[in-house]
Amino acid sequence: MRMQTLGRTGLKVTQLGYGSMGLRGPRTWGVRVVSDGDADRFLNQVLDVGINFIDTAPDYGFAEERIGRALSKRRDEFYLATKCGCDPIQHDDQLEIRHTWTPEVITRNLEQSLKNLQTDYIDLMQFHGGDAKTLVQDGLIDLLKEFQQQGKIRYFGVSSSLPNLPGLIELNVFDTFQIPYSCLNRAHHDLITRAAATGAGIIIRGGIAHGGPDAEIQRDKLNAIWNEAGLDELLDEQMNRAELILRYTISHPHCDTTIVGTCNPDHLAENLQAVEKGPLPQPLYDEITARVKRAGQ
Ligand SMILES: NC(=O)c1ccc[n+]([C@@H]2O[C@H](COP(=O)([O-])OP(=O)(O)OC[C@H]3O[C@@H](n4cnc5c(N)ncnc54)[C@H](OP(=O)(O)O)[C@@H]3O)[C@@H](O)[C@H]2O)c1
Repeated sequence: MRMQTLGRTGLKVTQLGYGSMGLRGPRTWGVRVVSDGDADRFLNQVLDVGINFIDTAPDYGFAEERIGRALSKRRDEFYLATKCGCDPIQHDDQLEIRHTWTPEVITRNLEQSLKNLQTDYIDLMQFHGGDAKTLVQDGLIDLLKEFQQQGKIRYFGVSSSLPNLPGLIELNVFDTFQIPYSCLNRAHHDLITRAAATGAGIIIRGGIAHGGPDAEIQRDKLNAIWNEAGLDELLDEQMNRAELILRYTISHPHCDTTIVGTCNPDHLAENLQAVEKGPLPQPLYDEITARVKRAGQ
């Protein structure tokens, strides 16, 4: 397993992490619903193959409860990252994601996550978005520091993207940043480098570009970039599309871990193999970059 140090947290994390959004269950969003039994088996498999970093959020339906049920007995085998500022509304057939930046919501999120996850502590608490001004002026960063002193969380970070990310980097208080990035979405390439320069650990989300052209749930915008860049021309029998995308992501020198979401055991095995092969050879990496830049990325 390729391991990296997650910035100033010092945690040694597997470069392939696990994103649990796909375990959100019924009455949420999207078309795929995973059963409790499959979620249980799959989460255990994630640890069995050696992954030691799991990302979740109160916004992900049943995901936290499922992690608690399946893995609380194995709590010392993995680092647990969740989020706060989450104030979702459950409608009859859909979970509406909403974020509210108040001490009450942040405190409620922490207490509920500890219960759902059946644990006494969260390794990494991340603001699920937010901007620098709000998080500072409402005392929310200080609140996370209090939780840290109480031993309820070990480290804190933020999950962010443009336009809020630069202001959050400038605060220079976060242990980690969670940032979207892949060869089909390079917008944050340089901001990842800037965030890492503060000493923070970098968690990449969207690192397999949501499955790219092979995804079960197709994304036309990403497929258009893939096709326009002619990336199929760069594949051979040794490398499929998912491997190209994932190895490009881990080629970013500051990708400490990428929390790929999958609920498919074959994809899990494939992704592990891809990450084990390591970053792409430089000429191939440069060719992909040039092609996706020409395609507008
Ligand atoms: N704002 C935020 O903080 C935020 C937002 C979004 C996500 N996240 C976090 O980041 C994690 C990942 O994000 P994401 O799900 O948006 O992006 P992602 O990991 O790039 O994409 C996940 C999708 O890729 C598919 N996939 C995985 N491996 C594959 C393979 N080898 N071949 C084909 N398809 C494959 C999965 O489907 P299969 O199940 O079929 O494999 C899944 O639908 C989430 O689980 C969550 O923890 C955070």
